[in-house]
Amino acid sequence: MSSTVASANIAITKTPPRADVPNDLDAFWLPFTPNRAFKKRPRLISRAKDMHYYAPDGRALIDAAAGLWCVNAGHNRAPIVEAIRRQATELDFAPNFQFAHPQAFALASRIAALAPADLDHVFFCNSGSEAADTALKIALAYHNVRGEGSRQRLIGRERGYHGVGFGGIAVGGMVNNRKFFGSMIAGADHLRATYDREHQAFTKG
Ligand SMILES: Cc1ncc(COP(=O)(O)O)c(C=O)c1O
Repeated sequence: MSSTVASANIAITKTPPRADVPNDLDAFWLPFTPNRAFKKRPRLISRAKDMHYYAPDGRALIDAAAGLWCVNAGHNRAPIVEAIRRQATELDFAPNFQFAHPQAFALASRIAALAPADLDHVFFCNSGSEAADTALKIALAYHNVRGEGSRQRLIGRERGYHGVGFGGIAVGGMVNNRKFFGSMIAGADHLRATYDREHQAFTKG
């Protein structure tokens, strides 16, 4: 059953969750999480405001990591909520394949103006993982079009994390993240991690 809420010039159809599908923790696989342990003692966050997350029982938790370092301006801030709302009302999605949204050009220009020296072009991605893989592809293609297509070595750091795409896992230095995925991409190698406990004792722990 669904209900329709009508206002001035929009109609929103609200469909409640299907009653015949059990609401359990089984279907959703969490990344980088021991799933069986999590599902025995789930840690759920149901809302957020400014620097706090809130558990379903109302407990406030300080979000010291700003999401995954991506909510640095705070959660649920009125001007940001309004900007998201305004954009969704105007245009929720436009493809970048052969078409483009004027705001994407405006944002790219602003980023290029902020970026140092000759970093003048912007390639938008949906995640850090996609950005890491794209950066590796751009590096390979750059040498290829310069006539140096044999330059294919990709060098990362031991202990580095560059996301969950094949490229990012290959240059990343987290061995456990690649052990199930065969030969990954060829030509990746690693330098030592920059972490040096003897000289960086203040980072202990
Ligand atoms: C350096 C670096 N690369 C890639 C990623 C992956 O980003 P995402 O989780 O958005 O795919 C992260 C995320 O922490 C990162 O720190």
